[in-house]
Amino acid sequence: MPYTLHRGDALTKLSELPDNSVDALITDPPYNSGGRTSSERTGRTARAKYTAADAEHNLANFPGENRDQRSYGYWLTLLLTESYRATVESGTALVFTDWRQLPTTTDALQAAGWTWRGIASWHKPVSRPQKGRLKQSCEYIVWGTKGPVDPHRNPVYLPGLYTASQPRKGRVHITQKPTEVMQELVKICPQGGTVLDPFTGSGSTGVAALREGRQFIGIELSDHYADIAEQRLERALAQDDYDLAGPEA
Ligand SMILES: C[S@@+](CC[C@H](N)C(=O)[O-])C[C@H]1O[C@@H](n2cnc3c(N)ncnc32)[C@H](O)[C@@H]1O
Repeated sequence: MPYTLHRGDALTKLSELPDNSVDALITDPPYNSGGRTSSERTGRTARAKYTAADAEHNLANFPGENRDQRSYGYWLTLLLTESYRATVESGTALVFTDWRQLPTTTDALQAAGWTWRGIASWHKPVSRPQKGRLKQSCEYIVWGTKGPVDPHRNPVYLPGLYTASQPRKGRVHITQKPTEVMQELVKICPQGGTVLDPFTGSGSTGVAALREGRQFIGIELSDHYADIAEQRLERALAQDDYDLAGPEA
């Protein structure tokens, strides 16, 4: 089977993966961003946080968005440490984050043992202008390697800037990443190698991995999103470019 989807908590399931068994960690954890007060952090669902009041969709909430800043940094370090152990020498980590959590994410990556190599950007052309402020039109991909980069293992030239809108048509997750961006990012994993995403969500990383000839190991805590990911992964395997609600945007 070119993919495995584990249902459950990322830290618990990661600890069950063998050492040196995956080629690239590519993941989009809950950002735990914003929320200046305890009640803002614990009282607000991911849905309330990421969904505009006038949004037309009715997508399900997801867990893991209520940690305070210190525990988020600690938790992310544990996750990246377990992922490091499971990754081969010269393997890669690509971790999505936003501007608020960028410093914490680069700290956690390095504390976990990875060598920090840089930051790529996902530019979203359709983002809300804010009066008197610079527009927040990017999310970031913090990346690093386990030890040295081995250019012979995977001789690719990849961009550091990706422009794409968040999927609209066929969107099935609140923070769904565009498959076209993920299809470029999974090329950091050698052909036929294994991509790990412990925060699978609706399975965008896995769909991209399968479409690009990589294998995939996913972990997802929410049964609702694990079901969706499984359906999308099966469709990708059947080389069906159509998503749950029709063609992807
Ligand atoms: C930011 S979303 C990922 C979205 C994904 N990139 C996509 O395109 O659909 C993070 C996901 O992590 C899941 N999650 C939260 N806490 C988790 C945990 N402790 N273990 C495993 N999954 C978790 C959430 O249910 C959510 O679906």
